[in-house]
Amino acid sequence: MKPLGRLRLGINIDHVATIRNARGGALPDPLRAALLAEAAGADGITAHLREDRRHIRDADIEALMAGISIPLNFECAATDEMQAIALRHKPHAVCLVPEKREERTTEGGLDVAGDAARLGAFITPLREAGCRVSLFIGHEPRQIAASAKIGAAVVELHTGRYCDLVADGHEAEAAAEFEALRTGATLAHSLGLEVHMGHGLDFETAAQVSVFSEVVELNIGHFLIGEAVFRGLGPAIEEMRRRMDIARASAGRA
Ligand code: PXP
Repeated sequence: MKPLGRLRLGINIDHVATIRNARGGALPDPLRAALLAEAAGADGITAHLREDRRHIRDADIEALMAGISIPLNFECAATDEMQAIALRHKPHAVCLVPEKREERTTEGGLDVAGDAARLGAFITPLREAGCRVSLFIGHEPRQIAASAKIGAAVVELHTGRYCDLVADGHEAEAAAEFEALRTGATLAHSLGLEVHMGHGLDFETAAQVSVFSEVVELNIGHFLIGEAVFRGLGPAIEEMRRRMDIARASAGRA
């Protein structure tokens, strides 16, 4: 079996901003976290500018665009306001996610199949501006097919349900979800989409999904920002990188 390519690691720094905003001041600084992540070997930074600005703010996006040397994955809802912000900054990638005010985090995938005409029109100017458009979706084949059809470059498959099932000890359902993610990754790749995964990943689940040969990037935030409390952000990211690399290398040998 041929060795699998290196998996990219994107670091989501939203929750550095969550902690900052809890006290209303300037610290901890999300840009400082992004620069530490970069120094620790991160391949990209993700920041989600939510409509309610509950963590990342407009000024953070400006600071990240000016301050980091690795690609910025600008995560946002498909609204006119966010499209205008993305077109002003022209980040490397724009990742579209569903957004509900009352949710604690991004709970499900985007309904691309049910909103294809609008989303297709929405992403056209972003593509023309040179942004790689990524759609955060579940692994359902109709969502993957619709993403390819409207011209997205990337799909990020939502791993949140898988991670919850693992955490709750539901082994059989977790195994089924894992296979559905694998099937989804294969389908997306066959349709010409670049495949990313993310949401809820920790050391264990990130290593598990690192074996999918079609996946080229994992995006991880909450677990690593939490782990940083205990071992520091740089060491937490280095440990994640190490575990992904080991999993990838052993899958390539299998
Ligand atoms: N990818 C996307 C599209 C997300 O919305 C999020 C959460 O904001 C993540 C990855 C990171 O998820 P987590 O913080 O659970 O690692």
